[in-house]
Amino acid sequence: EMEDGMSHGEMEGHMSHDEVMQLKDSTGENELIVPPVLERNIDGDVTYTVRAQKGETQIFNGSKTKTYGYNGTFLGPMLQFTKGETIKIRTINELDQETTFHWHGLEVAADADGGPHDALQPGEERVIEFKVTQEAATLWFHPHPHGNTADQVYNGLAGLIFIEDENSKHLNVPDDYGKNDFPLIIQDKLFDENHQLNYREARNEDGTIGDTLLINGTVNPKLTVEKEKVRLRIVNGSNARNYTLKLNSGDSFVQIGTDGGFLNEPVTVQEVTLTPSERAEIVIDFQAIDATSDLALVNEDGSVLLPFDISHSNGVASELSTQLNDFTLTAEEKNLPVNKTVELFGMMDHVTINGKKFDPDRIDFTQEQGVTEVWEIYNKPDIMGGMIHPFHIHGAQFKIISRDGAAPPENEQGWKDSIAVHPDETVKIAIQFKNKGLYMFHCHILEHEDNGMMGQVLVE
Ligand code: C2O
Ligand code: CU
Ligand code: CU
Repeated sequence: EMEDGMSHGEMEGHMSHDEVMQLKDSTGENELIVPPVLERNIDGDVTYTVRAQKGETQIFNGSKTKTYGYNGTFLGPMLQFTKGETIKIRTINELDQETTFHWHGLEVAADADGGPHDALQPGEERVIEFKVTQEAATLWFHPHPHGNTADQVYNGLAGLIFIEDENSKHLNVPDDYGKNDFPLIIQDKLFDENHQLNYREARNEDGTIGDTLLINGTVNPKLTVEKEKVRLRIVNGSNARNYTLKLNSGDSFVQIGTDGGFLNEPVTVQEVTLTPSERAEIVIDFQAIDATSDLALVNEDGSVLLPFDISHSNGVASELSTQLNDFTLTAEEKNLPVNKTVELFGMMDHVTINGKKFDPDRIDFTQEQGVTEVWEIYNKPDIMGGMIHPFHIHGAQFKIISRDGAAPPENEQGWKDSIAVHPDETVKIAIQFKNKGLYMFHCHILEHEDNGMMGQVLVE
């Protein structure tokens, strides 16, 4: 037994997590699956119908994997919203366990947010309605049942939301879905010898990690592109793994968007790091790249995630808009006093926020609707040194004021709903809620969330 009372097994779990099992290289044998665009309902009074389902999916040739999905057996479709419109969604639970429908990153009234208080029992359905008040962005949706989020997401429940607005419609950015505009939902999984996911076996209390990468549910993916600029809307939909994505050539590319919208200008980067639930939109210019090159998106450790197959034909020759957005962090916001302090601490199932575990009956903070407040979030290291906690808040997009007192990097100077907080780091964010109600804030390592690394803010 360790001195602090943890069992040997728990320690080992943490150690192996720190070493992080390497991902197998993609062999590039399967063309990337592009999630279908969900059709709007033509009759009836709802815009969309979204069903949580279970089924079997052919992920590997010649075998079937038991999975969950939205309107299908694995992952889900893409829902398209336009800023200003009212959306009504009929959500239906066709699983044999309770679930919720959470719209991650959406500025929505708490009664439509789909947090742990909004469980639907098997067979139950609920219609939610909201107005889309935020700018163009790539969001996603996933379940949030208390204590069971990790299992359900791991088994496949994750879908996409694209928001468009007047600005995005007029920008010069690739937007031909499935041709030069692709979502990439990246998730690592551990398959057993029968190609089953077997969450209980794979589970790690510090976040389940796998050796097999799926992108949009495709194993060994490749992406065929024409010689043009290609936009990739990357969603880290993994339970726990962090990725640092780069090109194997070492070439730079541009990042154009964060979790909640466009950056002001395309930012040239060598790599992009995404912790669970974070998004980045990037553009890779294939116009000048030789079709015989073996260009691929790789992880920091060199594992091949997505090889590109560059066709000989030319796509659209286009210039990217140089001005994409008008995001600002005002001097006033920078100088606001700290209203709330959040301390993230622990590992395995000993994780806490401000020394406490989640209690659905306790309100941790209150905040006034429409008032900007500063939250200061500190990641307190433990005896093992600690780990990154991706901190997420429901119902709002926030601005990063500082990381350890310094301005955030250029590619974080945009709207965010999740932020990687490193051990011993203090981040300050400015956040305003447009709607009232009870919202969650939590670590987005899904096992940490399920283990109680979550609190509640009541917006009044
Ligand atoms: Cu991505 Cu509480 O959620
Ligand atoms: Cu969320
Ligand atoms: Cu955590």
